[in-house]
Amino acid sequence: MLSGDLVYLNHGSFGARLKAVHEHQEGLREALEASPVMGMDEDMVDHMPRIKSSLGSFLGMDHDGIGLVQNASEAVCSVLRSIKFEPGDEIICTRHAYNAVLQLLRYISSRHDITLHVVDITLPVSSREEVMTPVISRLGERTRLVVVDQVTSPTALVLPLSSLLAECRSRGIDTLVDGAHAPGMIELDISSLGATWYAGNLHKWVCAPIGAGFLWTDPSRLDQTHPVIISHGYEEGYAQEFDWQGTRDMTAWRTIPFVIDWVEDAWGWDTLRSHNSALARWAHEMMTDALAVEPLSPLDGCMLGSMAAMPLPPGIQERFEDLQSMQKCLRHEHRIEVPIMELGDRWFVRVSAQAYNRPGDYESLVHALQQMA
Ligand SMILES: Cc1ncc(COP(=O)(O)O)c(C=O)c1O
Repeated sequence: MLSGDLVYLNHGSFGARLKAVHEHQEGLREALEASPVMGMDEDMVDHMPRIKSSLGSFLGMDHDGIGLVQNASEAVCSVLRSIKFEPGDEIICTRHAYNAVLQLLRYISSRHDITLHVVDITLPVSSREEVMTPVISRLGERTRLVVVDQVTSPTALVLPLSSLLAECRSRGIDTLVDGAHAPGMIELDISSLGATWYAGNLHKWVCAPIGAGFLWTDPSRLDQTHPVIISHGYEEGYAQEFDWQGTRDMTAWRTIPFVIDWVEDAWGWDTLRSHNSALARWAHEMMTDALAVEPLSPLDGCMLGSMAAMPLPPGIQERFEDLQSMQKCLRHEHRIEVPIMELGDRWFVRVSAQAYNRPGDYESLVHALQQMA
């Protein structure tokens, strides 16, 4: 449904919708309005098992652990609000965490008198094997929770989580994986990952409507995990609590099986994922070479999914007051939608690769950046 007059290199922020998916959701909304009580009560109850079964098979989650939410922020908030922290507890996250999640962690830390450790992952990352070592080294007696991204937002790195999650599990430390970008981008088997909780978005790389996210919870924590909105189902079990969180538009949830099947039938998820990651790897190599900038991760793409981030060439950052003005300049003067990200005092450009992108899109961006520099 994207406008044809814009080079769209920002699938990573809010995804993009397939026309068929949009039409399917519109049909569901019309049916809901034709009979609102039946649509909210009976239809949703009837459809929940099919939604969870489709999503569970697609992402490797046992159905009992799936709680549907609007977005990853809501999933992460649900976990942080559910944990009974003690003063002196510690939370660990990385400097590459999404800013809104960092803000939530700051809020929770100050509210409960606990310490937040933000661990650096230094750039450039040279080895997949060692990237999580600084986080593992920071684990201590008082560590209560580790929050870690599967795919980082500012730097677009796919983090290898297995050793960190195994280490936390062996020490009895809870883990929350922020998988906002991962579903649809990389192949997942969430139940076997070894996390305590996994938060995911479906509007990004699954191309589901906005309003479709989920929280997966390990069986051992189901009765201690509650949605942000406490409603009728309180203390009636995880499924009851998450299935009804007050009156809201649940058509995005109902569209989940449709979009999963649509992409499988049209292209196949494996084919789409390998197309996107091949294009992202190519763009990463081509752009770092053309812009003469140092890559943040190895050029073989071993740490990339369907996005790549790279530093801006010298001379650009100083020309703009803030990130937003640079992003707006690219959008309005060059007709390119691409995010400019910040980590520390450095700015990066992050490109996404999706079925509608072509090599020429990235070449247009290089050209615009070279003009700016
Ligand atoms: C890594 C990461 N976590 C969490 C979020 C929050 O997602 P939402 O705004 O959909 O809640 C995002 C959004 O882009 C993200 O990239």
